[in-house]
Amino acid sequence: MKVREWDPRTAPSAEIVSLLDAINAGFAADLPEDPLWQNDLLREYLSEVMPGERRISWIAQEEPSADGQQGPILGHIQVLLLGDIGVIEVVVHPTARRLGLGRKLIATAARRTYQEGFRSIGAEVIGGTPAVGFYGALGFAQEYVETRSVLGLSTVDWATLGEMAKGIGAGYHLEFCPGGPPDELIEAYARAKAEMRDIDDGDLDLRPSSYDPQRLRDSLGCLHRRGMKPYIVLAIEEKTGEVAGLTEVVVPAQHPTRADQYDTIVGQDHRGYGIDRAMKARMLFELRTAEPKLSEVQTWNAQANEAMLTVNAELGFQPDREWFEYGADVAELVHRLDASG
Ligand SMILES: CC(C)(COP(=O)(O)OP(=O)(O)OC[C@H]1O[C@@H](n2cnc3c(N)ncnc32)[C@H](O)[C@@H]1OP(=O)(O)O)[C@@H](O)C(=O)NCCC(=O)NCCS
Repeated sequence: MKVREWDPRTAPSAEIVSLLDAINAGFAADLPEDPLWQNDLLREYLSEVMPGERRISWIAQEEPSADGQQGPILGHIQVLLLGDIGVIEVVVHPTARRLGLGRKLIATAARRTYQEGFRSIGAEVIGGTPAVGFYGALGFAQEYVETRSVLGLSTVDWATLGEMAKGIGAGYHLEFCPGGPPDELIEAYARAKAEMRDIDDGDLDLRPSSYDPQRLRDSLGCLHRRGMKPYIVLAIEEKTGEVAGLTEVVVPAQHPTRADQYDTIVGQDHRGYGIDRAMKARMLFELRTAEPKLSEVQTWNAQANEAMLTVNAELGFQPDREWFEYGADVAELVHRLDASG
């Protein structure tokens, strides 16, 4: 099967639909509890990037039938070139697995990543799926592990949650910001995020946070263009007006029943006042009203982050799967894949 470079921005709609079928067949096979994706802003999700970043994609499509009908897309890979790393995402339709297509797609993306001058390549790998054996066989190393946890909103005890939302230390208050932080708070918000960057948690940062105000604005703009709606709860220290804490949840148009928790940060000087718990509890209340279709929230935590895991458990999050970051040196990977044909 031929692999060809593919531009989701200009691809025929039928190809976007065919790719969605492959993605959903992959979910059904590998992650049956996850919601299927829908074709809402999927083209934009696949094409929009931050300024300075590039995403290059390829597809493997079955040959056209005798009457000229396009064949289905059976494989897709994209590499996001950001900073000094290429981050890949690959999917092979379950009916076309174990035929060497995944390896061929990785070889294509790795060669290009090498030519573009990038030295390392990374991928998110979900525990308990074929991707673990696949990346291992290709010589990637496991570099980082997190736990994904899921909260079903139908299991939430809203009365207890209400108490948690109120349980914040004196001198702080919470603000709910649908769509992103208000412009007058962008700088304080970026400062709070920068502080977290100083804490080296060993994470590869496949989803890098935004530390300076302009990058933060760009990042919010990119999220909106990709159909991912951010909701933020801020904890403000009243005497200084500083952002003492923040929590971010994104509701993607592609799977609006399950939201993704992004960063949660409580500044070093503001720990011990119940801010983490109160912000997250308030967020769940707000989401219940703002997003009536939402039924679950998923979050990722380092296993060492005990404080946050405890709060998540109190809120009702249930550990679901291990989530790994795998990495490889691009030159070595290209060499290995070329050598193995
Ligand atoms: C991981 C994935 C891309 C592999 O695609 P593939 O085309 O089947 O991979 P290949 O045939 O090129 O396999 C290459 C090697 O990887 C290893 N491998 C692949 N699948 C494996 C599995 N299920 N178990 C163990 N090893 C595996 C094998 O060593 C294989 O070589 P072999 O078949 O000669 O033994 C595919 O399973 C996939 O799309 N998974 C979904 C990825 C994902 O992110 N899913 C989440 C939502 S869709």
